[in-house]
Amino acid sequence: MEATVTADMLEREKAFNDRIARGEVIEPKDWMPERYRKQLIRMMSQHAHSEIVGMLPEGNWITRAPSLSRKASLLAKVQDEAGHGLYIYSATETLGVDRLELTQQFLDGNAKYSSIFNYPTLSWADIGAIGWLVDGAAIVNQTALAKCSYGPYSRAMLRICKEENFHHKQGYQILSIMMQGTAEQKEMAQDAVNRFWWPSLMMFGPSDANSPNSEELMRWKVKLHSNDDLRQRFIDRTVPQGEAIGLTFPDDKLKYSETTRSYEWGQINWDEFKAVVSGNGPCNKQRMQARKTAEENGQWVRAAAEAYAAKHYN
Ligand SMILES: [Fe+2]
Ligand SMILES: [Fe+2]
Repeated sequence: MEATVTADMLEREKAFNDRIARGEVIEPKDWMPERYRKQLIRMMSQHAHSEIVGMLPEGNWITRAPSLSRKASLLAKVQDEAGHGLYIYSATETLGVDRLELTQQFLDGNAKYSSIFNYPTLSWADIGAIGWLVDGAAIVNQTALAKCSYGPYSRAMLRICKEENFHHKQGYQILSIMMQGTAEQKEMAQDAVNRFWWPSLMMFGPSDANSPNSEELMRWKVKLHSNDDLRQRFIDRTVPQGEAIGLTFPDDKLKYSETTRSYEWGQINWDEFKAVVSGNGPCNKQRMQARKTAEENGQWVRAAAEAYAAKHYN
């Protein structure tokens, strides 16, 4: 009996791998290996948590944005990120997991989110740097994920990337205007880039050699490019944009190579990356606390919504 089950499983797994090899898209009701499902839940929920935590550093500047129009566009951007979080939580739920469970994992400190959001936003220029660099890095990552093998995730990415493009342009425009301003404004813009450049490169995750999940995810076409390839792609498209508006980068090894038609660059400080990922970045505690407080403060809204639904829809 057991042997039959195993043979059956192997056959299913082979059929699944063949589908992936043919470039077919896997949908929620299709058979999938348990490990594929688990890896997707881990990756997608981390992504959803990142969208939500990502609202915090920028939300910090909504009340202090320098004009009404800046305030309105930052508000819209932060709201978009909430939408991205909800979209990806919904996509994750198609894998049979409840979003309450995912939220709990996050609040208990058992789920990761992008290390970039553990850095503080010290000046208005940081909002420019985040839009340009952080959303720019997210676009490179998410454009690749838009072609991944899991249907709901890839479709979520298509829509999200369109919005990220607005965020990217908004950030770049904030910095370009500051770079045409006073010496103090230029300095502010440059300082923001100096602080956010390396953490943005860290967003692509560990180098391929140290990325434990990469190989499996690439085999399943959840990931289509390695972390290092995506990081290089980001550098190659971002450096000329920065140079065009007079910004420099805090990397003395950064140099264009005519041979590879690509930039050579220095070394990521992986000790810093590890420290931030393991909870010891400048704002980790603050971010977790903000999410916990939001959860507690939202309790009555959820209770009221449930009571209303019970009264009217049961
Ligand atoms: Fe987003
Ligand atoms: Fe964004």
